[in-house]
Amino acid sequence: MSRWGFFITFEGVEGCGKSTLAWKLYDYLKSEGFSVVFTREPGGPPVAEDIRDVLLRPDRKLEPWTEVFLLLAARHENVKKVIYPALTNSSIVISDRYDDSTFAYQCYGRGLPYKIVSRFNKFATMRIKPNLTFLIDLPVEKGLERIGAGNMDRMEQEAIEFHRKVREGYLKLARRAKKRFYVLDGLKTPEELFEQVKQVTIERLKQKGPIGRFKGKA
Ligand code: TMP
Repeated sequence: MSRWGFFITFEGVEGCGKSTLAWKLYDYLKSEGFSVVFTREPGGPPVAEDIRDVLLRPDRKLEPWTEVFLLLAARHENVKKVIYPALTNSSIVISDRYDDSTFAYQCYGRGLPYKIVSRFNKFATMRIKPNLTFLIDLPVEKGLERIGAGNMDRMEQEAIEFHRKVREGYLKLARRAKKRFYVLDGLKTPEELFEQVKQVTIERLKQKGPIGRFKGKA
């Protein structure tokens, strides 16, 4: 029987550069012969991508709980169809956002109760938690500036105060789970950030056991 793989997530406020970093890590690990699967949230499998479109349409307004249930529905699809199968196959899974986004955006940002959201989230995720989470921390003004006012989706269009609460929320989550989180300074250059991401990932994979067992399974 295959051993459980390794689950890496990337988190942060809008425009922090996490998607570029996540893809760079994917390309690097692939080129080194690792078996690696990339996904994102909300999104991943087709139904979850459809839900993403509903969630991010700038011309729609959603009730806070509707938003949570849609996010969790998309997450469950992603966990059942992509994340769980890959982890049971000893692969490395990289996800551009996962459940910390829900705690940061819906709990700290929107003010929904952490305990209840966390309980629903356990059903959505089948209690699968990341082994390692990179949080790219950045002043929210910087990130929104990078996106530019003309291209904003429903979440990005939220007031600056909302985004500040999300950033603070992320930092609180990171303080509560110090072993799992690795916080990066989003003001550093993409090259510096990637070097750190690469080093930390390899270190953590080694801690998990013989590194070769994550290779050549895809
Ligand atoms: P992104 O993938 O381009 O970062 O966009 C996803 C958006 O969805 C982003 O604004 C954060 C938001 N989001 C939540 O509010 N809660 C969640 O649980 C997830 C996964 C994303």
